[in-house]
Amino acid sequence: MQVEQMYEMLKTKLGDIVPEVELAIKAEVAVEVLELKKARNAVILGHNYMEPALFHSVPDYVGDSLGLSHLAAKTDKDIIVFCGVEFMAETAKILNPKKIVLSPAEKAGCSLAASITAEDVRQLKARYPGVPVITYINTYADVKAECDICCTSGNAAAVVNSFREQTVIFLPDEYLARNVAAETGKHIIVPSRDPRLNTKDSVVDVQIIGWHGRCEVHEQFTVEDIASVRAQFPDVVVLAHPECSPEVVAASDFSASTTAMIKYVEQVKAPRFLLLTECAMGDNIAGALPDKEMLRMCSIRCPHMAQITLENTRDALKYTQYMINVPEDIRIRAERSVLRMLEIQ
Ligand code: 13P
Ligand code: SF4
Repeated sequence: MQVEQMYEMLKTKLGDIVPEVELAIKAEVAVEVLELKKARNAVILGHNYMEPALFHSVPDYVGDSLGLSHLAAKTDKDIIVFCGVEFMAETAKILNPKKIVLSPAEKAGCSLAASITAEDVRQLKARYPGVPVITYINTYADVKAECDICCTSGNAAAVVNSFREQTVIFLPDEYLARNVAAETGKHIIVPSRDPRLNTKDSVVDVQIIGWHGRCEVHEQFTVEDIASVRAQFPDVVVLAHPECSPEVVAASDFSASTTAMIKYVEQVKAPRFLLLTECAMGDNIAGALPDKEMLRMCSIRCPHMAQITLENTRDALKYTQYMINVPEDIRIRAERSVLRMLEIQ
């Protein structure tokens, strides 16, 4: 594709969202990325939170963690460039040990993935022997390796319901666990970090045992935010990601994974929508669906997702950086948990 064509395409979609001068620079970089992608026989997977010019130009596929994991499992390209945070690129590597998997940023973390270690999981397993362990995909490979199955926001309830056991451990997102408990009608506890305070948490009537992780982005949305937007726009439809607090989810009209939120906006007729999630996604939807009015609270960006840019995606392909590696003994055990999840739907 020529730079002029790319610029026109981006301007049509993003002319009201990204300044023209920025689009002109982004168009040049996007064309370089497309050329390098072809030359290196690479596939680019882009999470729904990518910056609008990247999201709408270079990825072969865009989607949520679940959709991108399915796609990563199927690709026949030599190189996977994962435009998303590190745990996502790591999941692609777990599924493709022989391929080169690149993350454009050297370290794109996630507060949820940072909230738990493999040793924390081993201690929980020692404390609740025989209780199955479900871990959110927003964790690193060594944590996935300690668990029985992974889940994403797109299949968390289905994964919990796939167990016949009375009780499961669900890690590490406290809010997602509470939201899944509410959705599945299960009783949840989140044991204290201080073991001396955990004297009476017999698992007899508890069906989900949680952890203390939080998404640093989604925990910021409040019920008051929703009330104030509803006061201004009574006809607004509010969508909240399930990493938001249970109170925020309860005050919203719809809660699901990022791709399910996009599909909902596509399919539902409403005067305007409020997205309670990383705000780049609102821009991405606005670019794709210009007839929809998107309200978003744009003070809230994920600092980790924001590290991925068109420029460092180009450099990833140019310099084969930053290579994701997972020790083979950990990878094999983590793969079992990811594949078991992918079989569920
Ligand atoms: P999704 O799987 O819904 O895309 O969510 C990933 C994530 O990190 C949300 O903060
Ligand atoms: Fe992690 Fe939250 Fe950023 Fe998603 S938005 S990558 S959960 S910190």
